[in-house]
Amino acid sequence: MKIAILGTGDVGRALGTGFAALGHEVRIGSREAGHEGARAWADTTGPNCSHGTHADAAAFGDWVVFAVRGTAAPELAKNLASALDGKIVIDATNPLDFSGGFPPELAIRGDDSGGEALQRAARGARVVKAFNTVPNALMVNPDLPGGPPTMFIAGDDGDAKAEVTGLLGAFGWDVEDLGGIRSSRWLEAMCMAWVMSAATSGHARSAFKLLRG
Ligand SMILES: NC(=O)c1ccc[n+]([C@@H]2O[C@H](COP(=O)([O-])OP(=O)(O)OC[C@H]3O[C@@H](n4cnc5c(N)ncnc54)[C@H](OP(=O)(O)O)[C@@H]3O)[C@@H](O)[C@H]2O)c1
Repeated sequence: MKIAILGTGDVGRALGTGFAALGHEVRIGSREAGHEGARAWADTTGPNCSHGTHADAAAFGDWVVFAVRGTAAPELAKNLASALDGKIVIDATNPLDFSGGFPPELAIRGDDSGGEALQRAARGARVVKAFNTVPNALMVNPDLPGGPPTMFIAGDDGDAKAEVTGLLGAFGWDVEDLGGIRSSRWLEAMCMAWVMSAATSGHARSAFKLLRG
Protein backbone atom coordinates (compact mmCIF):
# COMPACT_ATOMS: atom_id res chain seq x y z
CA MET A 1 0.00 0.00 0.00
CA LYS A 2 1.05 3.64 -0.46
CA ILE A 3 1.17 5.65 2.76
CA ALA A 4 1.46 9.42 3.08
CA ILE A 5 2.84 10.83 6.30
CA LEU A 6 2.23 14.55 6.77
CA GLY A 7 4.76 15.94 9.24
CA THR A 8 8.47 15.31 9.64
CA GLY A 9 8.69 15.45 13.45
CA ASP A 10 9.17 12.56 15.88
CA VAL A 11 5.69 11.14 15.20
CA GLY A 12 5.91 11.36 11.41
CA ARG A 13 9.28 9.64 11.35
CA ALA A 14 8.28 6.94 13.87
CA LEU A 15 5.10 6.03 12.01
CA GLY A 16 6.78 6.28 8.60
CA THR A 17 9.46 3.86 9.76
CA GLY A 18 6.81 1.50 11.12
CA PHE A 19 4.83 1.46 7.86
CA ALA A 20 8.01 1.02 5.81
CA ALA A 21 9.06 -1.94 7.97
CA LEU A 22 5.75 -3.63 7.09
CA GLY A 23 6.69 -3.29 3.40
CA HIS A 24 4.50 -0.31 2.51
CA GLU A 25 5.66 2.50 0.24
CA VAL A 26 5.91 5.64 2.37
CA ARG A 27 6.16 9.28 1.30
CA ILE A 28 6.77 11.81 4.07
CA GLY A 29 5.41 15.31 3.45
CA SER A 30 6.67 18.64 4.65
CA ARG A 31 5.66 22.28 4.26
CA GLU A 32 8.68 22.80 1.99
CA ALA A 33 9.98 20.69 -0.90
CA GLY A 34 13.45 19.27 -0.25
CA HIS A 35 13.13 19.49 3.57
CA GLU A 36 16.50 18.33 4.91
CA GLY A 37 15.06 16.14 7.68
CA ALA A 38 12.57 14.50 5.30
CA ARG A 39 15.31 13.78 2.77
CA ALA A 40 17.57 12.30 5.48
CA TRP A 41 14.73 10.14 6.80
CA ALA A 42 13.87 8.81 3.32
CA ASP A 43 17.52 8.18 2.43
CA THR A 44 18.24 6.22 5.60
CA THR A 45 14.96 4.34 6.13
CA GLY A 46 14.69 2.31 2.94
CA PRO A 47 14.20 2.16 -0.82
CA ASN A 48 10.42 2.18 -0.32
CA CYS A 49 10.62 5.68 1.25
CA SER A 50 10.43 9.08 -0.43
CA HIS A 51 9.72 12.69 0.48
CA GLY A 52 7.85 15.67 -0.93
CA THR A 53 5.47 18.45 -0.04
CA HIS A 54 2.26 17.83 1.87
CA ALA A 55 0.38 17.97 -1.45
CA ASP A 56 2.79 15.51 -3.13
CA ALA A 57 2.45 13.09 -0.27
CA ALA A 58 -1.34 13.37 0.02
CA ALA A 59 -1.76 12.75 -3.71
CA PHE A 60 0.53 9.70 -3.45
CA GLY A 61 -1.01 8.00 -0.42
CA ASP A 62 -3.84 5.46 -0.34
CA TRP A 63 -3.84 6.27 3.37
CA VAL A 64 -2.82 9.65 4.75
CA VAL A 65 -1.47 10.13 8.28
CA PHE A 66 -1.66 13.57 9.90
CA ALA A 67 1.39 14.03 12.15
CA VAL A 68 1.71 17.80 12.02
CA ARG A 69 1.35 20.37 14.76
CA GLY A 70 -2.20 19.79 15.95
CA THR A 71 -3.38 23.39 15.76
CA ALA A 72 -2.38 23.43 12.05
CA ALA A 73 -4.06 20.14 11.10
CA PRO A 74 -7.60 21.35 10.24
CA GLU A 75 -6.30 24.11 7.93
CA LEU A 76 -3.96 21.65 6.23
CA ALA A 77 -6.86 19.21 5.78
CA LYS A 78 -8.95 22.00 4.23
CA ASN A 79 -6.17 22.81 1.76
CA LEU A 80 -5.75 19.14 0.79
CA ALA A 81 -9.40 18.15 0.97
CA SER A 82 -9.88 16.91 -2.60
CA ALA A 83 -6.72 14.76 -2.33
CA LEU A 84 -8.15 13.13 0.80
CA ASP A 85 -11.54 12.20 -0.65
CA GLY A 86 -12.46 8.58 0.09
CA LYS A 87 -9.11 7.87 1.75
CA ILE A 88 -8.42 6.58 5.23
CA VAL A 89 -6.95 9.51 7.14
CA ILE A 90 -5.31 8.72 10.47
CA ASP A 91 -5.32 11.73 12.79
CA ALA A 92 -2.46 11.32 15.28
CA THR A 93 -2.49 14.98 16.31
CA ASN A 94 -3.40 16.87 19.47
CA PRO A 95 -4.31 20.56 19.30
CA LEU A 96 -1.83 21.53 22.01
CA ASP A 97 -1.28 25.22 22.76
CA PHE A 98 2.03 25.89 24.53
CA SER A 99 1.70 29.69 24.37
CA GLY A 100 1.13 29.82 28.14
CA GLY A 101 4.09 27.49 28.82
CA PHE A 102 3.83 24.04 30.38
CA PRO A 103 1.45 22.33 30.77
CA PRO A 104 -0.14 23.08 27.43
CA GLU A 105 -3.87 23.64 26.98
CA LEU A 106 -6.10 22.06 24.35
CA ALA A 107 -6.67 24.85 21.82
CA ILE A 108 -9.87 23.10 20.68
CA ARG A 109 -11.94 21.59 23.48
CA GLY A 110 -15.35 21.43 25.14
CA ASP A 111 -17.99 20.78 22.49
CA ASP A 112 -15.38 20.35 19.75
CA SER A 113 -12.03 18.66 19.13
CA GLY A 114 -9.16 18.60 16.67
CA GLY A 115 -10.39 15.30 15.23
CA GLU A 116 -13.85 16.73 14.54
CA ALA A 117 -12.36 19.90 13.05
CA LEU A 118 -10.18 17.80 10.73
CA GLN A 119 -13.16 15.68 9.64
CA ARG A 120 -15.24 18.84 8.97
CA ALA A 121 -12.38 20.32 6.94
CA ALA A 122 -12.13 17.23 4.71
CA ARG A 123 -15.69 15.88 4.58
CA GLY A 124 -14.90 13.15 2.05
CA ALA A 125 -12.05 11.71 4.13
CA ARG A 126 -12.57 8.67 6.36
CA VAL A 127 -10.90 10.04 9.47
CA VAL A 128 -9.77 7.71 12.24
CA LYS A 129 -8.28 9.24 15.36
CA ALA A 130 -5.43 7.02 16.56
CA PHE A 131 -1.94 7.21 18.07
CA ASN A 132 -2.66 10.55 19.80
CA THR A 133 -2.71 9.07 23.32
CA VAL A 134 0.71 7.37 23.15
CA PRO A 135 4.30 8.64 23.00
CA ASN A 136 6.07 8.37 19.66
CA ALA A 137 8.70 5.99 21.05
CA LEU A 138 5.97 3.39 21.69
CA MET A 139 3.82 3.88 18.58
CA VAL A 140 5.27 0.86 16.77
CA ASN A 141 5.83 -2.44 18.60
CA PRO A 142 5.27 -1.12 22.14
CA ASP A 143 7.29 -3.44 24.33
CA LEU A 144 6.11 -2.91 27.88
CA PRO A 145 5.88 -5.23 30.87
CA GLY A 146 2.26 -6.31 31.32
CA GLY A 147 1.51 -7.06 27.69
CA PRO A 148 0.25 -4.94 24.81
CA PRO A 149 -1.15 -1.57 25.85
CA THR A 150 -4.43 -0.25 24.46
CA MET A 151 -4.78 2.10 21.51
CA PHE A 152 -8.02 4.05 21.77
CA ILE A 153 -9.50 5.07 18.42
CA ALA A 154 -12.52 7.00 17.14
CA GLY A 155 -14.09 7.66 13.75
CA ASP A 156 -17.38 7.72 11.88
CA ASP A 157 -16.51 5.13 9.22
CA GLY A 158 -16.67 1.57 10.58
CA ASP A 159 -14.82 0.02 7.63
CA ALA A 160 -11.98 2.52 8.00
CA LYS A 161 -11.74 1.76 11.72
CA ALA A 162 -11.63 -1.99 10.96
CA GLU A 163 -8.72 -1.46 8.55
CA VAL A 164 -6.87 0.77 11.02
CA THR A 165 -7.51 -1.81 13.75
CA GLY A 166 -5.77 -4.39 11.54
CA LEU A 167 -2.77 -2.09 11.13
CA LEU A 168 -2.66 -1.42 14.87
CA GLY A 169 -2.63 -5.16 15.51
CA ALA A 170 0.37 -5.47 13.18
CA PHE A 171 2.04 -2.66 15.16
CA GLY A 172 1.47 -4.65 18.38
CA TRP A 173 -1.53 -2.87 19.90
CA ASP A 174 -4.71 -3.96 21.58
CA VAL A 175 -7.46 -1.66 20.24
CA GLU A 176 -10.50 -0.06 21.88
CA ASP A 177 -13.05 1.74 19.71
CA LEU A 178 -14.62 4.77 21.43
CA GLY A 179 -17.23 5.33 18.71
CA GLY A 180 -17.63 8.26 16.32
CA ILE A 181 -15.16 11.04 15.61
CA ARG A 182 -16.92 13.08 18.32
CA SER A 183 -15.01 10.92 20.82
CA SER A 184 -11.84 12.73 19.72
CA ARG A 185 -12.85 15.08 22.57
CA TRP A 186 -12.09 12.34 25.06
CA LEU A 187 -9.02 11.05 23.19
CA GLU A 188 -7.46 14.52 23.13
CA ALA A 189 -8.22 14.92 26.85
CA MET A 190 -6.54 11.52 27.38
CA CYS A 191 -3.42 12.93 25.76
CA MET A 192 -3.40 15.61 28.47
CA ALA A 193 -3.80 12.93 31.15
CA TRP A 194 -0.77 11.15 29.69
CA VAL A 195 1.24 14.42 29.54
CA MET A 196 0.51 15.17 33.21
CA SER A 197 1.26 11.60 34.25
CA ALA A 198 4.63 11.69 32.48
CA ALA A 199 5.45 15.14 33.88
CA THR A 200 4.50 14.20 37.44
CA SER A 201 6.13 10.78 37.53
CA GLY A 202 9.03 11.56 35.22
CA HIS A 203 8.18 8.31 33.42
CA ALA A 204 7.49 8.86 29.72
CA ARG A 205 7.80 5.23 28.61
CA SER A 206 4.18 4.52 29.46
CA ALA A 207 0.85 3.85 27.80
CA PHE A 208 -2.73 3.22 28.88
CA LYS A 209 -4.09 -0.32 29.16
CA LEU A 210 -7.77 -1.20 29.43
CA LEU A 211 -8.36 -4.21 31.69
CA ARG A 212 -11.55 -6.10 30.94
CA GLY A 213 -13.35 -8.27 33.50
N1 LIG B 1 5.57 13.64 20.18
C1 LIG B 1 4.78 12.65 20.57
O1 LIG B 1 5.23 11.68 21.22
C2 LIG B 1 3.32 12.67 20.23
C3 LIG B 1 2.51 11.62 20.64
C4 LIG B 1 1.16 11.60 20.25
C5 LIG B 1 0.67 12.61 19.44
N2 LIG B 1 1.48 13.64 19.08
C6 LIG B 1 0.94 14.67 18.19
O2 LIG B 1 1.44 14.38 16.88
C7 LIG B 1 1.69 15.60 16.17
C8 LIG B 1 3.16 15.62 15.74
O3 LIG B 1 3.96 15.69 16.89
P1 LIG B 1 5.58 15.77 16.79
O4 LIG B 1 6.06 15.71 18.19
O5 LIG B 1 6.05 14.79 15.78
O6 LIG B 1 5.94 17.14 16.15
P2 LIG B 1 5.53 18.68 16.22
O7 LIG B 1 6.66 19.39 16.79
O8 LIG B 1 4.20 18.88 16.88
O9 LIG B 1 5.42 19.06 14.66
C9 LIG B 1 5.43 18.12 13.65
C10 LIG B 1 5.59 18.78 12.32
O10 LIG B 1 4.51 19.65 12.06
C11 LIG B 1 4.90 20.49 10.98
N3 LIG B 1 4.33 21.82 11.22
C12 LIG B 1 4.65 22.69 12.21
N4 LIG B 1 3.90 23.82 12.09
C13 LIG B 1 3.09 23.61 11.02
C14 LIG B 1 2.09 24.39 10.38
N5 LIG B 1 1.78 25.61 10.82
N6 LIG B 1 1.46 23.85 9.30
C15 LIG B 1 1.75 22.61 8.85
N7 LIG B 1 2.70 21.84 9.41
C16 LIG B 1 3.36 22.33 10.48
C17 LIG B 1 6.44 20.49 10.96
O11 LIG B 1 6.88 19.79 9.81
P3 LIG B 1 7.64 20.50 8.61
O12 LIG B 1 8.59 21.50 9.21
O13 LIG B 1 8.32 19.39 7.90
O14 LIG B 1 6.59 21.13 7.76
C18 LIG B 1 6.80 19.65 12.18
O15 LIG B 1 7.93 18.88 12.01
C19 LIG B 1 1.30 16.74 17.11
O16 LIG B 1 -0.01 17.13 16.83
C20 LIG B 1 1.38 16.09 18.50
O17 LIG B 1 0.50 16.69 19.42
C21 LIG B 1 2.79 13.70 19.45
